[in-house]
Amino acid sequence: MVKANDNYLKLPGSYLFSTIGKKVREYSEAHPESKIIRLGIGDVTQPIAPAILEAMHKAVDEMGVRETFKGYAPDLGYEFLRSTIAKNDYQARGCDISADEIFVSDGAKCDCSNIQEIFSLDNKIAVCDPVYPVYVDSNVMAGRAGDYDATTEKWSDVIYMPCTAANNFAPELPKETPDLIYLCFPNNPTGSTITKAQLQEWVDYANKVGAIILYDAAYEAYISEADVPHTIYECEGARTCAIEFRSFSKNAGFTGVRLGFTVIPKELKAGDVQLHGLWARRHGTKYNGAPYIIQRAGEAVYTEAGKAQLKEQVAYYMKNAKVIYDGLKGAGFTVSGGVNAPYIWLKTPNNMTSWEFFDALLEKVNVVGTPGSGFGPSGEGYFRLTAFGTYENTVEAVERIKKINL
Ligand SMILES: Cc1ncc(COP(=O)(O)O)c(C=O)c1O
Repeated sequence: MVKANDNYLKLPGSYLFSTIGKKVREYSEAHPESKIIRLGIGDVTQPIAPAILEAMHKAVDEMGVRETFKGYAPDLGYEFLRSTIAKNDYQARGCDISADEIFVSDGAKCDCSNIQEIFSLDNKIAVCDPVYPVYVDSNVMAGRAGDYDATTEKWSDVIYMPCTAANNFAPELPKETPDLIYLCFPNNPTGSTITKAQLQEWVDYANKVGAIILYDAAYEAYISEADVPHTIYECEGARTCAIEFRSFSKNAGFTGVRLGFTVIPKELKAGDVQLHGLWARRHGTKYNGAPYIIQRAGEAVYTEAGKAQLKEQVAYYMKNAKVIYDGLKGAGFTVSGGVNAPYIWLKTPNNMTSWEFFDALLEKVNVVGTPGSGFGPSGEGYFRLTAFGTYENTVEAVERIKKINL
């Protein structure tokens, strides 16, 4: 008889954002008059920039003409996009990454969850705590995380690296040696970052112990401080120990358009196996390429007009981040993040749990955020607010939170 994959049954509850969505739906059905402001899920609100839209329209028209029509895209991405990425995101920063080390995809979520497939099941993963839930859940689905302990809210085979106020929300090198290390900077959910010198320590550590860093740089566009690295390949030795994930979702508003890429240097090996070849095989077998229209849109991100328009879009969100940060700090809340990332990490007042604060915000001032505990046990007592709302809603939400009577 057919059997389901038991690993899926180990996952506790539903995906964090489904739980939040359900709570908000139920509340608004019971209170249809309430004007709820959502600063929860990290989805963007600004429309696609004109330079990108123009490129998309042109590509759509090409699809209607026999001579310029495109069928299946190359599995690994069109050369025009791969070389544009290599040139702008890497070579322009002095990083030695070539076009054929870039694998274009439909987003970073798929890539950072699928990447574990090319590694042995007995590899041990290390994650920050709190963490973007996808890294852990995808390893649970694969059967690499062990068993879940509901008391500690931890998986038995996962190494947790607490990111707390005590270490400025930056993980310390783990005591137990991992095989795969997930790092995400600028960080979701805490909005923290690490300096280039700190990242270099991780690269040196990974090379020393023979681990691989899975580096998620989905929020790279939000970096505003000079000593924060834009890519892990700024660090010496990263080509032999790091895979990097990038997304067009947050820098160009492609959350609904869908485009991302993964970088795997050719030197990168697990034992004597070249991982570039393995991922190419996996990608070629299971993925049929991001759509031509979308890859042309991605290329337009790097044009002069595209860059200028997106700089404004990022500035718009970062103005929101400042409104949240300054407004809540001024009102006596303990806040961090929001300088190199579109997330503000807020300590819940009066020792409330993350979910107690979520309920209070929803019910008393109709503002939705994300409970920190949903990202891992060290997120308990914290709350994430995103800067991705509209300016007007952000200002209104902060005014409401300031007046909350807990
Ligand atoms: C850390 C991190 N990585 C990846 C993603 C997903 O990116 P994409 O939309 O490209 O799948 C997100 C989205 O919120 C994220 O926060």
